[in-house]
Amino acid sequence: MGNPQESLHAFIRNLECASDDAKERAEAPISFGFKTTISTKRYDQGFGKIEVGGKIRPYVLAPVTYAVPDLGLQAAVYPDGAQEERKLREPLTLFTACLSGNEIEVDTSRVPTEPSFSNSFWDDWRSLGAGDVYTLDIYPSAIKALREHGPAALDKKIVAVDLFGGDGEFAKRIASCFALAGQKYEVHVIDRNKKSLDTASNRSATTDHGKFVVHRPVDIIETDDIFPNINSRPDVVTAMGGLCQYIITRDEAFHVASMVYEGMRNGGIFIATGYTEMRLNAQDFREIGFRVEQMSIPKNTVPLKNPYQMYVLRK
Ligand SMILES: C[S@@+](CC[C@H](N)C(=O)[O-])C[C@H]1O[C@@H](n2cnc3c(N)ncnc32)[C@H](O)[C@@H]1O
Repeated sequence: MGNPQESLHAFIRNLECASDDAKERAEAPISFGFKTTISTKRYDQGFGKIEVGGKIRPYVLAPVTYAVPDLGLQAAVYPDGAQEERKLREPLTLFTACLSGNEIEVDTSRVPTEPSFSNSFWDDWRSLGAGDVYTLDIYPSAIKALREHGPAALDKKIVAVDLFGGDGEFAKRIASCFALAGQKYEVHVIDRNKKSLDTASNRSATTDHGKFVVHRPVDIIETDDIFPNINSRPDVVTAMGGLCQYIITRDEAFHVASMVYEGMRNGGIFIATGYTEMRLNAQDFREIGFRVEQMSIPKNTVPLKNPYQMYVLRK
């Protein structure tokens, strides 16, 4: 890991070299974009020098061009300055990689909602391309977050619920994580797609340490009982690719996240991420009552490599 202070100074030097014209453009909202917020509270001294549009700001607010995500963060700050883009990309990449997951947020909550995929779409979604991102990046990052933020209570059983849990691939990893730690557990899989749930039942991860329970199909958006037939309040709730674009609208996501909050144990954690853009932002989760412990995977935010968002929320 590099030195965040040095990386920030390199970023500032490049920003200061940019033309005044370009600085003004940095202030202009891009109508089809979403914004990325970097909190530089930790580096206040260095940051005091940053002037964007004539103002010294406590945050860098950079709209990201949604339509051309591979151009990345700084391309959107200077939408037509290819030269400046190259100058800024490297220091900003280094800098964001030094941040913690609660210092940078890519806010996609206002991206227009696309129609949701049908139930049958999910029969065989892994073969369509995003499956590898789940197994190679999303699951390892979420299990790391579970280890860092999750409960450790070897003397009691931990109840975990994987919402939008599909074929149980991730829930199985939660069960293994607990079993390896010698933790007693109950892991529940909740989803609407029967074919995926049948696969989940066949790969049951019941061990000496705990139970793996696959529920009958439930529409999580429609139901009033988000934790059906689960006898105690969950300590851990996860949603991998659940509160996301193509699955749920913003209002529905707010409703589901509120039900999660109401139903889970005080002090428990909720981890929400996915391949497509999240429908809620940190402020929404705070409004519901959660404490936000992580918002993103910093190294993924500049290249906008999925997943760039990972919310770790505590009740
Ligand atoms: C991107 S997949 C993720 C699956 C799983 N979390 C994983 O990591 O393998 C989205 C899942 O959400 C489920 N889903 C979509 N809409 C749903 C709804 N309204 N109620 C319940 N499940 C839903 C789909 O059936 C699918 O399994």
